[in-house]
Amino acid sequence: MNQVIDRVLIPAADIQAKVVELGEEISADYEGENLLVVGILKGALVFMADLIRAIRIPIQIDFVAITSYGAATTSTGAVRILKDLEQAVEGRHILIVEDIVDTGLTLNYLTENLRSRGAASVKVCTLLDKPARRRVAIHTDYNGFDLPDEFVVGYGLDYAENYRHFPYVAVLRREVYAGTP
Ligand code: IMP
Ligand code: MG
Repeated sequence: MNQVIDRVLIPAADIQAKVVELGEEISADYEGENLLVVGILKGALVFMADLIRAIRIPIQIDFVAITSYGAATTSTGAVRILKDLEQAVEGRHILIVEDIVDTGLTLNYLTENLRSRGAASVKVCTLLDKPARRRVAIHTDYNGFDLPDEFVVGYGLDYAENYRHFPYVAVLRREVYAGTP
């Protein structure tokens, strides 16, 4: 086992099985449509790469970068766009792909933003959800796994930009966080 990991919450094989399920569901729901899949950088990168290969309808992909976090493990509440979409939004069916919904502030902001720019529809697919931490009500259309209120890393998720490349979702050892605000 990895030196920094306390325990694995979701093994790689469970994630892969769920991704295939979500891809099937999305393909069925959008049958006959052309979908713009929008990943939220950087956390959704790994999930998005796997998910789009499980989708069987025509899609294009794009990315936005939004931040509501510094290096700390608690949200400041401030949401900021770092990189906007390159594709036109107007008239498009958009599926936002997110790694984890925590307070809901990021998705609340982005779904409203895309709707106000004339998207035909905006839905949300998140791999992970921490319902206990919600500060704004946000509807997710496709949801992989619910998690308890614990900070996790891996499969795209970071702690201070580290551990995104782990193929599983895990909780870090307490010592790793020691000394950070
Ligand atoms: P929200 O706006 O509070 O819902 O925050 C969502 C973002 O916070 C995610 O895209 C992640 O980047 C980050 N985040 C929330 N919880 C965790 C976690 O447990 N580990 C790593 N990043 C997290
Ligand atoms: Mg992050």
